[in-house]
Amino acid sequence: EENTTDRQSPVLVEFDSGIAFVTLNRPEKRNAMNPALNISMLEVLDELEGDERCGVLVLRGAGESWSAGMDLKEYFRDNDGKPRDATLKARRQSGGWWSRLMYFEKPTIAMVNGWCFGGAFTPLVSCDLAIAAEEANFGLSEINWGILPGGNVTRAVAEVMRHRDALYYIMTGELFGGRKAAEMGLVNEAVPLAELETRVRKICASLLEKNPVTLKAAKDTYKRVRDLPWDLADDYIYAKLEQMLFLDKTKGRDEGLKQFLDDKTYQPGLGAYKR
Ligand code: ACO
Repeated sequence: EENTTDRQSPVLVEFDSGIAFVTLNRPEKRNAMNPALNISMLEVLDELEGDERCGVLVLRGAGESWSAGMDLKEYFRDNDGKPRDATLKARRQSGGWWSRLMYFEKPTIAMVNGWCFGGAFTPLVSCDLAIAAEEANFGLSEINWGILPGGNVTRAVAEVMRHRDALYYIMTGELFGGRKAAEMGLVNEAVPLAELETRVRKICASLLEKNPVTLKAAKDTYKRVRDLPWDLADDYIYAKLEQMLFLDKTKGRDEGLKQFLDDKTYQPGLGAYKR
């Protein structure tokens, strides 16, 4: 295990067994996203994109919180009264890393260890997968302080939650736990906090067996085609598939066919070919 950032920085990166654990690191502020954290996350994502120690990115929070959403002081209050470009700049900094996350080169897993509020729903939904602690608590708390869910939170919840559930929590700001989040589709599953990291590591191990070029193409294709009509989707999928075959210098598809049809060393129905 190797640390690349010092303990004071708003984002920590640690590598272990092909996993980059990225930790939102403002525990004393419940990992609220302030400008320093947002800038740091953009830099971290840039660095990890080409870092071969990062086969999967796991996003977690230091302490009892995953993220308490936007920093209400540094992101909102401190920009009040400043020229409009200060607000716009702050929006670009936060939205910048969230949208990078959505189409990140490597698979991404949100490991929700605790509080998850408001603005934190956008990076949550931007991660490919999300596993929560049963003990975690979620809330669309914007309504509780007089705004609506901006920062594309409204769009993010529309993507993964059912209509009635989304409106209920947007309008009431009520807390809900990890199990409820899983039942509603906001996260894949919830496990006891004590088992959270073990479960996430197990998923990482499965993803790390797969061809990374294929994984990137497969997840991007899924995320993009949802908004396309069928004929465009069909064409886009084949375009992505053929692009993937071109980009995969290891010729994984041919190897997979060979190991099954000729060598008879594995069965694709039961697991990945040996890379
Ligand atoms: N922005 C700025 N500071 C925050 C935030 C936040 N989102 N969340 C917590 N903090 C700060 C507190 O002000 C406090 O600072 P201080 O020690 O300097 O006084 C410190 O973090 C600890 O917070 P407490 O409230 O004392 O911690 P506690 O563990 O009791 O409660 C909880 C945690 C429930 C997360 C609470 O802090 C809270 O409700 N935070 C706000 C959550 C929220 O609604 N976020 C905004 C969502 S809307 C959006 O993101 C656009």
